[in-house]
Amino acid sequence: MQLQLTTWPEVESYLKDNTGVILPIGSTEQHGPTGLVGTDALTAEVIGRRLGEEIGVMVAPTISVGMAQHHMDFPGSVTLRPSTLMLVVRDMVMSLARHGFDRFYFVNGHGGNIQPVNTAFSEVHAELGEAAALAGPGSNRMPAEVFCRLANWFAMPQVDTLSQELYGDKNGSHATPAEVSVTWYAFPDQQRDVPLDTMGSEANPIQGAADFRRRHPDGRRGGADPSLSTAEDGERLVKAAVEDLAADYRHFMSVTGT
Ligand code: NI
Repeated sequence: MQLQLTTWPEVESYLKDNTGVILPIGSTEQHGPTGLVGTDALTAEVIGRRLGEEIGVMVAPTISVGMAQHHMDFPGSVTLRPSTLMLVVRDMVMSLARHGFDRFYFVNGHGGNIQPVNTAFSEVHAELGEAAALAGPGSNRMPAEVFCRLANWFAMPQVDTLSQELYGDKNGSHATPAEVSVTWYAFPDQQRDVPLDTMGSEANPIQGAADFRRRHPDGRRGGADPSLSTAEDGERLVKAAVEDLAADYRHFMSVTGT
């Protein structure tokens, strides 16, 4: 169930039995000549919503813009500074915590979000911990503690195995055939057929936007060959991701005491 498609009494009723929430988070950035600018947000949203249906957990609105500084020399890319993204994550967690949510499971579609989001979790723990210590037990509607996890759908074990089986080294690291396949499955009328140059497997450490464009002139990175993408592969990848994330969510619940 999607938070945006519920009413407040329905949210109140949900919270009596379940305090977990799934938060899809992605990015709006170039994905090579054939990948959609929204790839990372769209994949996280499709997979996050499917996961929510599978395990009966509420799904929050997608955070569709992430930390994509290194893509900013390509038209259409939009980014938040790391510090801004941390505040967005913090504010979403604290807003939902105010109503009683205390298990926050982020389904992530973009590598650049990993560090800021995990740092934001530490900020949330610091803030709630200080507030609880100052206020004393039971004096505050906010939960005394919350639990947050960031799961990268593209790196889950079955997804990784299937991506290797389907594409091997040609999955690369940006504008991958795996992520493009997921968008083609979800949006079949958005498939692109543009000839791609062959490219090496260069995967230098990411620096700034100008360096990224110089090293990766068409936007792909690490030898990714998205011409291998198919909607059929996308369906298999979504299924693998949802299976892995459902297991990971249950593990997250078990180790956080529910
Ligand atoms: Ni991506």
